[in-house]
Amino acid sequence: MKTLLITGAAGQLGQLLRRQYAAQRQFKVLACDSAMLDITDDSALQRLFSAVRPDIVINCAAYTAVDSAEQQPERCMLVNAVASASLAALCRQYDSLLISFSTDYVFDGQHNAPYTESDPASPLNLYGKSKLLAEDAVVQAGRYITFRTSWLFSALPGNFASSIWRRAVRGEPVSVVSDQLGGPTPASALAEAVYRLTMDYAAQTCLPYGLYHFCGYPYCSWYDFAKAIYQLAAPQHQHCLTAINSPFPGSLAVRPAYSCLDSSLFQRTFTQPATDWRTEIESYVKKMRV
Ligand SMILES: NC(=O)c1ccc[n+]([C@@H]2O[C@H](COP(=O)([O-])OP(=O)(O)OC[C@H]3O[C@@H](n4cnc5c(N)ncnc54)[C@H](OP(=O)(O)O)[C@@H]3O)[C@@H](O)[C@H]2O)c1
Repeated sequence: MKTLLITGAAGQLGQLLRRQYAAQRQFKVLACDSAMLDITDDSALQRLFSAVRPDIVINCAAYTAVDSAEQQPERCMLVNAVASASLAALCRQYDSLLISFSTDYVFDGQHNAPYTESDPASPLNLYGKSKLLAEDAVVQAGRYITFRTSWLFSALPGNFASSIWRRAVRGEPVSVVSDQLGGPTPASALAEAVYRLTMDYAAQTCLPYGLYHFCGYPYCSWYDFAKAIYQLAAPQHQHCLTAINSPFPGSLAVRPAYSCLDSSLFQRTFTQPATDWRTEIESYVKKMRV
């Protein structure tokens, strides 16, 4: 039986991946939250690899607080860039497949057509810079797949969609920027894509390695996304939602005005359909009601 290691397993994507693997028997899954495994602790990483010899590593651990990163650049770089390099080196040494996640914030937003994998990256903020360095670092693993994704959401607490839902049902006034466009992505769709890919890998021990964009459609603004949630969750409170221009008051990081990702390479390569976030948000809003 192959062994699969999930780091950052208590985060949004980590939790959904754990659920995804709960019912299968193909892999022995070792899911580590930050207390069990700090990916910036090189000796802990080495001990774990030597004991477990993972066939696959799914790195969900990341410093994801985009604004705080501007005030904690060293910590952000350590978790996202330096630790990714350590993981990649160990994956190379132990011949493990490394699956990692990057962000639409590696782009500067100057495009007016969806970004492809070959478009040059030029991040505007510290978080984006750290993730771009991580993308470069994971290549040394040899066997690697990096998903560049955007605006991940789920019914779990702590993401944009669940925060907006909570405020919508309470009828609280909410201001959301309408001049940043991107692709909301259901975290469960990404978890399912990762799951399928690892099942393929278990069957063939080979994959078309590389970098793939993975985001939901249709592209929209943060305001449009919030409006869709209001319409489903609390249409009677829609008047509480206001569109504003960026920057959002108090934000420390500059964000790209346009960060739509073209996911067609992933869809062609893995024969996967596009993910319509509107279908997912409908079912999430129902789940959030109960
Ligand atoms: N969320 C988005 O909108 C979005 C968009 C594009 C790309 N991504 C990327 O997608 C991936 C998954 O994101 P997510 O939404 O699941 O993020 P998340 O919910 O913030 O989860 C990140 C997890 O990493 C853990 N972590 C932080 N530092 C760690 C360390 N040194 N060692 C071990 N674990 C550590 C955190 O644990 P603690 O809380 O205990 O620190 C947290 O559980 C990340 O690579 C992120 O950059 C996310």
